[in-house]
This record gives sequence, C-alpha cells and structure tokens, in this order.
Amino acid sequence: MESVKLHDKVFESYISEAQIDQRVGELGAQIGDDFRDVDMLSIGVLNGAFVFAADLLRAIPYEVECSFVKMSSYVDTHSTGVVSELIGLGESLEGRHVLIIEDIVDTGSTLRKFMETLRGKNPASVRIASLLLKSEVFDNAFPVDYVGFDIPNHFVVGYGLDYNGLGRGLRSIYRIVEG
Ligand code: XMP
Ligand code: MG
Repeated sequence: MESVKLHDKVFESYISEAQIDQRVGELGAQIGDDFRDVDMLSIGVLNGAFVFAADLLRAIPYEVECSFVKMSSYVDTHSTGVVSELIGLGESLEGRHVLIIEDIVDTGSTLRKFMETLRGKNPASVRIASLLLKSEVFDNAFPVDYVGFDIPNHFVVGYGLDYNGLGRGLRSIYRIVEG
C-alpha cells in the first residue's frame, strides 16, 4: 500500500513492515541480553504501544512479565501538553527492573510525567524502549535507552499509532502528506 487516507488526511508509506520486523528483532535480542539475570517488569504505554509491545516481547528470547498503563496527551495531530493517566499500575515495582515500552517519544512530556509516578514506587531501575523517537523535538529530560528509529518531526501512523482512532492496524508506518 503506497498511501492511505484516514479521516481527512493522506499518509504515505514511510517505514516498511520488513524494516520494523528486523529492528524489533534486534531490540529484542539486545534487551534480552541486558535483562537476562534480573527481575524484570515491562510496562507498555497504551494505546499506541500495544503492537510494538506484542512484537517486542516475542522477540525477547525468554519469558517476560508485561503490564500496561494508559496515558494520553494527543488530540488530532498535536500534543496538548496535558498528560492524563487513565489506567494506573496494579503491580508492585519495589526492587524490580522496569522496562517502559512506548510507540513514540515526541516532546517527552508523556513519559516525563509517568517517570515521576514510577520514581515513587522504588523500582531498582527504569529503562525505556521506544519504537520511534523524534529527537528534533524531544526535550532530553531522560535517556531513551532503546530506540527503533529516530525520525524527523512528521506525524506518523500505523503499527499501533493512530490519527484520531484510525490507522493502528496498519502493518507498516506511514507519514502525513502535508497540504
Ligand atoms: P509526547 O509529546 O508526550 O508524545 O512525547 C507522546 C505520545 O503522543 C503520541 N504521538 C503520536 N501519535 N503519531 C501518532 O499517532 C505521531 O506522530 C505521534 N507523536 C506523538 C503517542 O501516543 C505518544 O505516546
Ligand atoms: Mg504512546
């Protein structure tokens, strides 16, 4: 599929299914090595990270516990800057090594808020895996330890990412065609 129309906007092919597959495999192997002998809890950030989390977990070569939180800051194609936590965490994090799984880190405000919440729960460590990073706009308030692809400041959809609810089921990533 070269381009798709979602609501009123057109998106063009950007990162292929094969490229994603290969990169997620690499990240899974690397994370697998780094967390091999520790008590790890991975936390996917809903909604967008559900596809990446599913593939990443299956690319890690041993069993990993996975939970989810739900955060939201985006309306239409722009961050509102106001981040709300809609579903919180049930698990104890005390002494555990946490891996946050995100679809995309844009300005970083969503994760900054979440990291503050996590700090109060005394995890042994917190690392972040994000499929995409917009390093041009990221505020660099924390390290993103595992990055799939560093992309320019384009609005993208597919592979879990949506434009007002649509596009999450696309197998590859598309970027908006402006104008
Ligand atoms: P911040 O700015 O808080 O944004 O780092 C992170 C969250 O905003 C969403 N987001 C996007 N969603 N295409 C999307 O479909 C994008 O290009 C995009 N940029 C940010 C996403 O939910 C992420 O967790
Ligand atoms: Mg997200």
